[in-house]
Amino acid sequence: MQILRKAHVQQLSRLLRQYPIVAVLGARQVGKTTLARQLVAGRKGPCSWFDLEDPRDRALLVEPTLALAGLRGLVVLDEIQRSPDLFPVLRVLADRPRTPARFLILGSASPDLLRQGSETLAGRIGFHELGGFDLQEVGVEHLERLWFRGSLPRSYLARSHSQSSDWRHGFVRTFLERDIPNLGVRIPATTLESFWTMLAHYHGQLWNGSELARALAVSQPTVRSYLDLLSGAFVVTTLRPWFENVGKRVVKSPKVYLADSGLLHSLLGLETPGELLRHPKVGASWEGFMLADVVRTLRARREECFFWAAHSGPELDLLVVSGRHRLGFEFKRTDSPRITPSMQAAYELLRLDGIDVVHAGSRTFQMKPHMRAVAARDVVTTLKALRG
Ligand SMILES: Nc1ncnc2c1ncn2[C@@H]1O[C@H](COP(=O)(O)OP(=O)(O)O)[C@@H](O)[C@H]1O
Ligand SMILES: [Mg+2]
Repeated sequence: MQILRKAHVQQLSRLLRQYPIVAVLGARQVGKTTLARQLVAGRKGPCSWFDLEDPRDRALLVEPTLALAGLRGLVVLDEIQRSPDLFPVLRVLADRPRTPARFLILGSASPDLLRQGSETLAGRIGFHELGGFDLQEVGVEHLERLWFRGSLPRSYLARSHSQSSDWRHGFVRTFLERDIPNLGVRIPATTLESFWTMLAHYHGQLWNGSELARALAVSQPTVRSYLDLLSGAFVVTTLRPWFENVGKRVVKSPKVYLADSGLLHSLLGLETPGELLRHPKVGASWEGFMLADVVRTLRARREECFFWAAHSGPELDLLVVSGRHRLGFEFKRTDSPRITPSMQAAYELLRLDGIDVVHAGSRTFQMKPHMRAVAARDVVTTLKALRG
C-alpha cells in the first residue's frame, strides 16, 4: 500500500516553480525516492532519472555537463551525496537563460551537502526537508501506532509490531555499518552505537557534552562531532534555546531528541507497546513525539522553534517566534493538564500570546485566558487554525 504524500508533492511543485534546483533532504528510508516518483507521476513533460548509487547511472555522468545539458523537463538526481562534484555543474546549468530543465536532487546526508549546496548554489536552490509520516498523513486515529513504531514508512506499515521492531533493528545496523562509512566517516560502528544509545537515554534533555565525553572516554569536541554527524544524517534533532534578557540567567545549551520515536524505542530495547508503557522513559518518549510533530509542521512554515529554560526553574518546552507573535507549547503525557507556576512565569516573562498544553487526554478546552489544554488528537486541526 502506498500513502500518497500530497502535501509534500504540492510543496515540491511549488518550489520547482520558484527555483531551478530543488533539494529533498532526509534520513535514509524516509521515502525520498518514493515521493519523487509520486511527483513525477503527476507531472506532464519529459523526465530523466539518475540514481547515483547505481554504477551504470554514474557512468552515464562521467562527462556531467555534456550528459545533462541536453535534457529538458525534470531531471532527478537521486543520492546526490555520492557525487558532490555535480554541484558546480548544476550551477552552470541553472544559470542558463530560460532554464530549459529543472533539477530535483535527493540526498540523505546534510552537513556537507548543505554546505556545498548552499554555497555553490546560493539563490538557485530551494530546500525541502522530508521526515517520515506525520500525524496528519496517517490520521490522528493512528497516533498510538505512529508513536510506538515511528515515522519511517516500512516500520509504520509493517504487518505486526514485531516485524516493525525487526525492521528497525536492521535499519540501525545498516545505518551504522554501511551508510555512515559510505559518507567517508571513520568512527567505529560500536562507538557510534554507544553514543546513539546514550542519547536515547537523554532524549529530550539538555545537551551535556562533558558527561557524554566522560562516559565514552573521548574529548568534548569529539562527542560534539558525533552529535553533528547524527543530526546531519537526520536521526537526531536539536532544539535551540531562546535567550533574551528577562532578568534571569537562562540555559544556553541545546536540547537533544532522537528524531524518530520508533528508533528511540529500538535503542531503548523496547520491543512491544506494553514494554514502552511500563518503561520510565514513556513520558519523555510521548512528549518528544508530540513535540517533533508540532515542530515539523511549524518549521515547514518557516517558523522558528526554540525551548526556553531559566536556571532558577521556569521553563517552556517549545517557543515559537513568528513575526510579532510568540506562542508557547507544553507537552505532557497526562489526561488532566494543569497550569503550573512555571507556565505562568514563562507566559509573563516571555510576553507570550498564549500557551497550549498538548496532553494525552481526549478534551480540548480553555483553562483560563491564554492557556489552553489541547488533546493530542486535536493538534493537527489546532495547528492549521494558527494563522495557517
Ligand atoms: N508514501 C509511502 N507509502 C508507502 N510506502 C512508502 C512510502 N514512502 C516510502 N515507502 C517505503 O519505504 C521504503 C523506503 O522508501 P524510499 O523512497 O526508498 O526512501 P529513501 O529514498 O528516502 O531512502 C520503501 O520500501 C518504500 O516502498
Ligand atoms: Mg532513495
